Amino acid sequence: MLKNKLNGLRRSPKGLVVILFAGLLVVGTGYTAVNAAVNTSPQAASHSAAQINYGKKLFLSNCASCHGKNAEGTANGPTLIGVGEASVDFQVSTGRMPGASSGPQMQVKPVQFTNDEIAAMAAFVGSLATGPAIPGAEYTSGNGDIQKGGELFRVNCAMCHNAAGKGGALTEGKYAPELMHSSAKTIAEAMILGPQNMPVFNDANITPQEKNDIITYLQYLQTHSSAGGDELGGLGPVTEGLLAWLGLLGLIIAITIWLGAKSN
Ligand code: HEC
Ligand code: HEC
Repeated sequence: MLKNKLNGLRRSPKGLVVILFAGLLVVGTGYTAVNAAVNTSPQAASHSAAQINYGKKLFLSNCASCHGKNAEGTANGPTLIGVGEASVDFQVSTGRMPGASSGPQMQVKPVQFTNDEIAAMAAFVGSLATGPAIPGAEYTSGNGDIQKGGELFRVNCAMCHNAAGKGGALTEGKYAPELMHSSAKTIAEAMILGPQNMPVFNDANITPQEKNDIITYLQYLQTHSSAGGDELGGLGPVTEGLLAWLGLLGLIIAITIWLGAKSN
């Protein structure tokens, strides 16, 4: 009985439209539900209105000239709507912002704001639109697996930052900075944000646990000097070979001079 009715519905053109809409509805709501579940990354540990207002005041006097009064962007700087608190924290706490001089890359300068001021400006920008939050302790505790972190670093980061984290040149006058002074938070933020030429390493790509492993590895490099003597910039066999070669050449010249001096 019901089956016959359904079959009839399927054959009539009106029925087809109904089925089509029902299908779209299911797919649409299903997609929204799944998407909402995926997008629950933490954002804006709620900030007080006073903090956001304070951040806005600081922003207007220090940043708006380039980023616009409402962070909408100007000819001198990009919009900050949706960049997230992590981006503001990264840029200002490493001294890249407020920007100065238009070289190929923002220079790292002495930090110009206190932690409270940075947090307030981050809260203000975060209040405009959602974006990546400042990474929490699950990324930055530094108690991860050094060995695994080293492997991940060599595969994902070393081509730009050098295997020993000493940094390296990129094209068009840009460079990947050395990482010997980067804090755990800065490292986590850089991976989440991908500033400039650096790729974004999202949590599906490198999980929070693996990010913590990488940070643990870098912290190990930061606190342990090389066991094998001078690293010669961490550049590997090329500089080491060159040094050996120059040393040997010097020795040969010295012996030649000594022999020549003797025969006189
Ligand atoms: C002299 C102009 C100038 C000033 C002043 C300035 N910025 Fe910027 N800002 C820039 C430029 C240019 C870029 C893009 C740089 C880049 O691509 O690396 C930028 C990038 C940024 C970004 C990264 C945006 C992204 O896409 O992730 C953030 C966040 C930021 N600025 C925050 C600030 C804050 C906060 C202040 C005030 C304390 C500030 N800036 C002051 C010029 C400026
Ligand atoms: C394609 C090259 C490239 C790769 C790959 C890359 N980076 Fe970067 N990284 C950069 C560049 C360029 C900057 C500087 C961005 C700027 O100044 O705005 C940077 C900046 C950073 C900083 C900020 C340093 C500081 O103290 O200011 C950290 C930390 C960092 N990268 C870590 C990593 C880690 C960890 C990986 C691997 C998971 C990685 N990077 C992979 C190019 C790269």
